[in-house]
This record gives sequence, structure tokens and C-alpha cells, in this order.
Amino acid sequence: MFVYFFLTGLVFTSILTESSATVRYQPEQIHLSFGEKERSIVITWSTGNKTDSIVKYGGGGQLLQTKAGSCSLFVDGGSKKASQYIHRVTLYYEEPDSLQPETKYYYHVGSDRGWSAIYWFMTPPENLNEWAPSIAIYGDMGNVNAQSLPRLQAETQAGNYDAIIHVGDFAYNMDDYDGEVGDEFMRQIETIAAYVPYMTTVGNHESAYNFSHYRARFSMPGPYENMMYSFNMGPIHFISFSTEYYYYLRYGFKMLVKQYEWLENDLKMANHPANRTIRPWIITLGHRPMYCSNKDDDDCTRIKNRLRYGITPLRLFALEDLFYKYSVDLEIWAHEHSYERLWPIYDYKVYNGSYDEPYTNPRAPVHIVVGSAGCQERVDSFNPLPSWSGFRSSDYGYSRVKVHNATHLNLQQVSDDLDGQVIDDWWLVKEMPRIKFPLADKLEEATKDTSQNHIRETVEINE
Ligand SMILES: *[C@@H]1O[C@H](CO)[C@@H](O)[C@H](O)[C@H]1NC(C)=O
Ligand SMILES: *[C@@H]1O[C@H](CO)[C@@H](O)[C@H](O)[C@H]1NC(C)=O
Ligand SMILES: *[C@@H]1O[C@H](CO)[C@@H](O)[C@H](O)[C@H]1NC(C)=O
Ligand SMILES: *[C@@H]1O[C@H](CO)[C@@H](O)[C@H](O)[C@H]1NC(C)=O
Ligand SMILES: *[C@@H]1O[C@H](CO)[C@@H](O)[C@H](O)[C@H]1NC(C)=O
Ligand SMILES: [Fe+2]
Repeated sequence: MFVYFFLTGLVFTSILTESSATVRYQPEQIHLSFGEKERSIVITWSTGNKTDSIVKYGGGGQLLQTKAGSCSLFVDGGSKKASQYIHRVTLYYEEPDSLQPETKYYYHVGSDRGWSAIYWFMTPPENLNEWAPSIAIYGDMGNVNAQSLPRLQAETQAGNYDAIIHVGDFAYNMDDYDGEVGDEFMRQIETIAAYVPYMTTVGNHESAYNFSHYRARFSMPGPYENMMYSFNMGPIHFISFSTEYYYYLRYGFKMLVKQYEWLENDLKMANHPANRTIRPWIITLGHRPMYCSNKDDDDCTRIKNRLRYGITPLRLFALEDLFYKYSVDLEIWAHEHSYERLWPIYDYKVYNGSYDEPYTNPRAPVHIVVGSAGCQERVDSFNPLPSWSGFRSSDYGYSRVKVHNATHLNLQQVSDDLDGQVIDDWWLVKEMPRIKFPLADKLEEATKDTSQNHIRETVEINE
């Protein structure tokens, strides 16, 4: 009798132990990005337990090609030390991967221990100069109240976009609840990010553990763990960088110095005629803006904004001059939970192309702020309209950027509150040969007291 109970007890306990030790072999959080080489595709996903990293893919619906990659262990900084394996596989156009241009590829990811559902992506055309890519761009999208996401899901799966760019502030926050919020957010965006490259920029909400979640979860090109990198899409050269290095000085000064050097070098190369001729558009992506007219106390409401003006008193690493000097066309920011389009601006002065057509051959870079995709912190309101601001809206939504060719770039702002209505639609036009920004004028202006007064007036209106 006793022996019988003892034995069944043993069997029962061992079954319990076995079944309570869950394994997590099933791939999840699948997302794409552009790789090191132009047009190459990186596929990234997670599993709880370690598995092989394999992608099976092919055109025409059959998954006849196989590519293996590798995985790395990521451990959250919280008390649970929750861990996951992050897998990466890159597909190239050269043999043996042999991606074909302008082809719809189907794929799934995983290993012998479990395969994902089947997803697809489109490859760009062979002739990159004839590519007119269409991109959805936004910042500040959370797990809670991701209001724009359903519309983005429908539009992405309908094939409307060639890429999506998220300009900082993910999930709110990826590290919360031992990283569960990050995992859930990555599952939410799988519905868009598994179909088109999901390119990213770091924001302040990623700061935990020295930006470890942001650095580990995404797979952007370059050696700086997603913090700074550039990539090309047809006629566009995108530069993504960390505005957070300017604010989280407690993590050290080294990367801030490094980034400034890297930015100047990247801009220099992009401006070499051999490059700028085939990729005339230079677009920067940074989370915190240099300018904004929101009714809050954020740094973008201040003249001595660290990014624009530099770190005082020596004005170290000031970016407005750098971006102006290298003729950046468009600077895209987020952080403010609203949409704002500025007139072409340099040093708080407006440099319209002409009064009637401010964005045709503008004489300074154009800035937009697109941080209203939707998060639990809701939207931000505005101060009275400054003279340098062209259009603003606190509706939830996102931007669409379509580069038609070397001279015409179209921007639209979609309001999700207004059921997808386009509330701002404008063209940035740069005729050939392009005019240079009037640097000489700029130097003159900087020495005049009047421009300083102009700045002060603007700021007083702001406050
Ligand atoms: C799976 O991962 C969990 C959590 O990390 C771990 O406790 C468990 O031992 C792993 N199981 C196997 C079979 O590797
Ligand atoms: C944070 O990470 C950067 C690399 O991105 C490193 O250079 C720096 O030393 C780290 N700071 C701390 C305080 O760990
Ligand atoms: C053009 O840009 C590429 C990187 O995209 C760079 O490797 C190359 O050196 C640049 N060319 C010149 C002449 O600067
Ligand atoms: C720039 O153009 C806009 C639109 O025409 C106009 O409202 C604004 O006053 C112009 N600013 C300057 C300084 O010319
Ligand atoms: C560039 O695109 C614009 C808008 O679609 C068009 O009007 C213009 O003719 C195009 N230019 C060239 C050179 O194709
Ligand atoms: Fe932010």
C-alpha cells in the first residue's frame, strides 16, 4: 500500500515537473530591416529557448531556399533577469541567396523545433535610381493606445509602403514588467514589421539599462548597435542618430563625441558628387526636435536647445550648423506628441524659397515633427503660432513620405482621428541644378544683433 502511493507519488511529481518547465521554441516578434548592403534584408525574431536560426523563403509561394543565421542571448536588466534569444538572418541579392529584384518573397522563420506563420516582403526594383519609395514615418507609439496601428496594419498589408520608420519612443517602455511590455509591443508591430523593413531611431523611452532593449532587439546597419547608422532607399540617403546622447550624459560622453564625428563623416561622403548625384535627398531622423511650438517645457521650446545650439557654454556638438553646412533637405523629429511642419529654417530665421512657394528651392533645411502615432501619454497642445511654423495638428496620426524623383518629394500627414483623412499635403521641390544654402548670408546674420532680437521675440511668444 505504502509502496504503491510512494511510487505513484513519484511518477506524478515527475510529470508535474516536466510539464511545468515550459519551453519556448516558437518564433515570435518577427521583423525586417535593411542590412549593411543596399537592399539586403535582415530578418529578426525571438525565441525563449535556444534554437537554430533558419529562414525558408522563395518567390511564387514555395519556400525552396534556406538560409541560416545566428542568435544571441538577451537578458533584461530587471529583477527577473528574463531572457530570450534574438535570431538574425540576412538575405542578399548575390549567390547563394539570390534574391531577385521586384519580386514578392514568402518566408517563415524558425528551426526544427518550430516554424512561424508565413509572411511576405517585396524586393525593390533593380534600377535603384528609378525607385520611387513610399514610406510611413512616425514616432512615439506605445503598447497602450497605439491608435494609428490598425490603419498602418491595413495599409502595409495592402502593399502601400516600402518601409516604415519609427523615430523613437517604443512600447512605453520596452523594459517595463521585466521586458514583457517590449515583447508584447514587438508582437503588435509584427503585423507591419514582418512585411516591410521597420527602420528605427532611439528615443528617451529606451534609456533603461543604457538603451539595452533598443540595442538588442533591432537590427539596423552599422557597428553602433542601432544608435547611429545610415541607409539608402533609391534616391534617398537616410541618417538616423541618437538625440539621447545629448541628454543622458550619465551614460558617458564618449558616444556623443563619436557620433558627432560619425555624422560629419557620413554627411561628407553622402555629399560627394558621386553619391549626391544619384541620391540627392538627405533626410535625417532624430527623436527630440531642435524646434517645436508645443505648450510644454521641453528643450525644443528653448533657443539654447542642446541639439540645435550645442551643449553650453562652448556650444559643443551643435547640429543645426552641421546639417545646414551639408545641405540636409529634411529633418524628421518626434518626441512631441503632435505634428508640426516648419517653414525652411536656420537659426530661428525663415528662408522660404519664395513667399508663394516656400518649399520650392528652399534656402535652409525643412523640419517636421511627427510624434503622434499614439501612446498612453496622449497628445500635446500648442503655444500661439510662431512665425516659423507652417502647420500644426494634435490629431493622432503619421506621415507618408514619397520621393517621386530627384526633384520632387511629397509629404502627407494622415489624421487617424479624422478616419485617415490627409490633413497636410505638400511638396518639397529642388530644381536642378540645386541652389546652395546661402552660407555667406548666415555668417553675416550671426554677427548681427537683430537676429538675436528676432530669436528673443520668438521665444517670448512661446512662453
Ligand atoms: C527553456 O528556457 C527556460 C527559461 O530560460 C529554462 O528555465 C529552461 O531550462 C529551458 N529549457 C530547455 C529545455 O532548454
Ligand atoms: C553605455 O553604452 C555605451 C555604448 O553604446 C558605452 O560606450 C558606455 O560606456 C555605456 N555607459 C555605461 C555607463 O555603461
Ligand atoms: C559614397 O558613399 C559610400 C557609402 O554609402 C561610401 O562608401 C563612399 O566612399 C562614398 N563615395 C565618396 C566618393 O565619398
Ligand atoms: C514663408 O512662406 C509662408 C507661406 O507663404 C508665409 O506665410 C511666411 O510668412 C513666409 N515667411 C517669410 C519670412 O517670408
Ligand atoms: C518628378 O516628379 C514630379 C511629380 O510626380 C513630376 O511632375 C516631374 O515631371 C518629375 N520629373 C521628372 C524629371 O521626371
Ligand atoms: Fe520622447
